[in-house]
Amino acid sequence: MTASKKNLTSLPAWQALENEYNRIKDVRMQDMFAQNPHRFEDFSLSLEDFFLDYSKNRIDANTVSLLLKLAEECGLKEAIEAMFSGEKINSTEHRAVLHTALRNMSDRPIYVDGEDVMPKVKAVLRQMEKFSEAVRSGEWKGSTGKEITDIVNIGIGGSDLGPSMVTEALKKYQKKGLHCHFVSNIDGTDLAETLADLNPATTLFIISSKTFTTQETITNALSARKWLINELGVAAVSKHFVAISTNRKEVEAFGINPDNMFEFWDWVGGRYSLWSAIGLSICIAIGFADFTRLLAGAFAMDEHFRTAPFAANIPVIMGMLGIWYCNFFHAEVQAVLPYDQYLRRLPAYLQQADMESNGKGVTKDGERIVSYQTGPVLFGEPGTNGQHSFYQLLHQGTHFIPCDFIVPANSLNEMGEHHSILLANVIAQAEALMCGKTKEEVLAEGVEEELAEHKVFLGNRPSNTIVVEHFSPYYLGMLLAMYEHKIFVQGVIWNINSFDQMGVELGKKLAKDILPELKGDKPVSHALVGKILEMRNKHDDTSYTA
Ligand code: F6P
Repeated sequence: MTASKKNLTSLPAWQALENEYNRIKDVRMQDMFAQNPHRFEDFSLSLEDFFLDYSKNRIDANTVSLLLKLAEECGLKEAIEAMFSGEKINSTEHRAVLHTALRNMSDRPIYVDGEDVMPKVKAVLRQMEKFSEAVRSGEWKGSTGKEITDIVNIGIGGSDLGPSMVTEALKKYQKKGLHCHFVSNIDGTDLAETLADLNPATTLFIISSKTFTTQETITNALSARKWLINELGVAAVSKHFVAISTNRKEVEAFGINPDNMFEFWDWVGGRYSLWSAIGLSICIAIGFADFTRLLAGAFAMDEHFRTAPFAANIPVIMGMLGIWYCNFFHAEVQAVLPYDQYLRRLPAYLQQADMESNGKGVTKDGERIVSYQTGPVLFGEPGTNGQHSFYQLLHQGTHFIPCDFIVPANSLNEMGEHHSILLANVIAQAEALMCGKTKEEVLAEGVEEELAEHKVFLGNRPSNTIVVEHFSPYYLGMLLAMYEHKIFVQGVIWNINSFDQMGVELGKKLAKDILPELKGDKPVSHALVGKILEMRNKHDDTSYTA
């Protein structure tokens, strides 16, 4: 019986896990290591050179088997198959969820409403290949005959975070002399600061929006268009603007030539779209061959997720460990800590991927969830910077925060000792979280009694460590697909729809109603609007000019 038919918390495995929690809550991970010399081997998994060490978790074999039993009782196997085979699992929007089709490197057809989507996926990939090569080679010229030197992706949310994170992560693979910029915020500063250093004659704008109606993106795109037209005239638009969208009508209405449009489809969720044409900026930056390697890495993780038994399945294990902590240890937060400067935008990307997907309070059947927590708050920073910022709280604070450490065995910039120091730090952090330090140990170091308690680390704080050989496009693809599937697993257990985002609508609508008050087109009904208008009237526009 699946959780949708029966309340999740009444499932036998859930009940057993409640007891399991009581059994294990006072067991120390260090003691489990002492009792099992093979714990590291028993609780680690590999996929090629992608390695997950999950031995530093508050689990033993019995816990894992119960967690996997819960996954079975919730129908995870069937749910995975339903997603991969194009069933309309996005139930509130009646859509299939097929970001996996975008990186399907097999010959398997994938059907939506009786139509194999693979031919159109491949056609757009060919279009991306042709266009990215033309821009990179200089064959694509701006309206004055100059080569493109700067790409500006205008988009927000999934139409920004994926491409901006990946281009940064793969900076080492980027073509020299071709610069990528990302404008997302409606705050005019974002666009103004980006345009300040650019030459319209050598700039290409990619307007990325699934709906092509998003206020921020359309406003930024119109301002960028104005900037370009001021310098080069309206005829220049076709050489300097391309669009990526599911909405051809709106793209045409905006004035972008449909020949310069790259299509994707409603079965690609915004936060799962970097693999689609939304990844065009990535493709231009790193070239089509490396973009294909990114897709291939994700495909390898997809195949693993689809076929590996749960006990050897990396996303399933990661997902179920998250369930263990969210629902039984009542952890409300998850930290993601990449020890790789190139991955510095990964936490921001995962915030959307995870929190927009699983930040839900009703089940798929429309029932309010009252008896368990859903998606955690996710945050992070790259190591070692975070160590000098919030790790104090991770080690000694009162919150219980499971951590994911992510690190490449080899750096793309070894720089003498730097990478060994980085590696030593990431291993040390996981060890410190797990082992902590007792008062006896503190006193044995000669610390005075009155200070001793301050220097105690309670320890027994869990973490996963993911190590890849190095962060190539392939292994980055694997990592991102792994997190997508982890999120999926958890959504299945919580019986929520991970693929809509209705929680963003209310604020958008209210902002539309408030705007006329700020523009003086409607009487002021918000006290705060009144106060702000008063301050705006006082403001001398020249006072900030350098
Ligand atoms: O505001 C939420 C959201 O709908 C995200 O899900 C999406 O990634 C983003 O806005 C941008 O939407 P679009 O690509 O349609 O402009």
